[in-house]
Formats: sequence, C-alpha cells, structure tokens
Amino acid sequence: MMKIIVKESYEDLSKEAAKIIEREMQKKPNLVLGLATGSTSIGLYKELIRMHKEGLSFSQITTFNLDEYFGLDFSHPQSYHFYMQKNLFDHIDIKPRNIHIPDGMVKDVKKHCLEYEKVIKQAGGIDLQILGLGSNGHIGFNEPGSPFASRTHLIKLTESTIEDNARFFEKKEDVPSFAITMGIQTIFEARKIILLASGQSKADAVVKSVGGQITSQVPASILQKHSNSVFLLDKAAASQLK
Ligand code: F6R
Repeated sequence: MMKIIVKESYEDLSKEAAKIIEREMQKKPNLVLGLATGSTSIGLYKELIRMHKEGLSFSQITTFNLDEYFGLDFSHPQSYHFYMQKNLFDHIDIKPRNIHIPDGMVKDVKKHCLEYEKVIKQAGGIDLQILGLGSNGHIGFNEPGSPFASRTHLIKLTESTIEDNARFFEKKEDVPSFAITMGIQTIFEARKIILLASGQSKADAVVKSVGGQITSQVPASILQKHSNSVFLLDKAAASQLK
C-alpha cells in the first residue's frame, strides 16, 4: 500500500525522512540504505549530519546510490560521487568500504551494471530506498518509457531531465547525455521506499504518480503497487492532490 504524508515545509519533510531512517537503523543497525542525490535530498542529509553530531552512528550501515552520470570522474564537482562525499559521507562515520555508487567511468558498462546488482544481492537487498521525483515522473534516472522490469543499466537522459539538471552545470551542453541507474525493478525490490518531493514544480508529477494510471510513461506510478512505499511531500508538491 502506498502511503502519503504531507508536511508543512521542506524542512519538516527533511526532518521526517531523517527520523524514518533513524527508526529503521534502530531496528536494524546494519541497515542497507538506498540513496538519492539531487536538491531534494540535501535537507535530509543535513539533518542526518546533525543527528550524527548528536551521537547517531552510521558505522554499520551499507549504502547504494541510485545513479551516476556517465563520463564524469569521481572528482568532478557535478558527479554524484562528489555530491555524496560533500553532502553526507565526509561528515558521518560510514565505512568507505560500505559505500556503493555506480561508476560513470567504467569501460565495460554491462559488466559493471551486473556487478552492481550482484553486490546489492550479496548485501541482502535494500532495506530502505530513498527516492527523489523527476518533474517528468522519473525515479533514479529511469525516464518515461523505461520498462518496469529494468535493472541497473545505462540510460540516455531525456531533454527535460537535461534541462532540469542544467542548473547545476555552467551550461546546458555540459550536462552528460547518459547515466548509469538502478532499474525500476531494482528499486521496486527494496523492502521499504520513501519518495521525497518538494515544491510546485513536482506537483504535476505527484498527481500522475499517486492518482493516475500505473504506466511506464510515469515511472514513479509503479510505486502504487509496492507493499511499503511512502510519498513524503511538502504542501507545494501536494498542492494538486484532491
Ligand atoms: C538522483 C535521482 C533523481 C532525482 C530527481 C529529483 O539520484 O535519482 O531521480 O532524485 O531528478 O531531483 P531534484 O531533487 O534535484 O529535484
């Protein structure tokens, strides 16, 4: 069953997401946590860092990030490796060997994607997956039209995603055209899923994902079928829900 939680503000949404993670870590200190990048998760990571300063330890958790741009080196400021270090990992006590992010610089992409899936399995599968929502309804970088049965793979980014993400780059032409992303099936196999959406620009995608038809044209709509998924929204993102 999909649950919808609406919070007053982005700050409240971020705090709620952090609390859910803390609760899951209390139940299972060696939690396997799936992580997202993008601007929505920043508040959540700030909150986790604050909680770490107050004593919360991440030393036993394992993480798997959803995606990485193809062709960006770890040291590139727009790479998701760089983002994760800067916004979370540098400030908590997670063990570097427990961090997993697809590698956008690999030569053999197919092999790397199979390996990523294998390592997730070996870790026992993802207990809790954090997601953001693309304004086109994407999850991870699974763009509209991606098959629900997909696993970790290379994907060509749509024009709308390139435009959305151009704000992080100097110019639009600098946004990579490809990314490696967990597939929809990979995401769906997580035992619990929390999707975060904040702001008016996500309101339309939220309606289509929770109220509309389940269709590959709106990748997040598949979460309606998940047994333990939560849409955690702020008021603006929920503004078009009836
Ligand atoms: C990032 C990711 C994407 C973003 C989504 C929302 O790892 O997988 O699906 O979560 O594009 O991005 P923001 O939060 O920047 O609006």
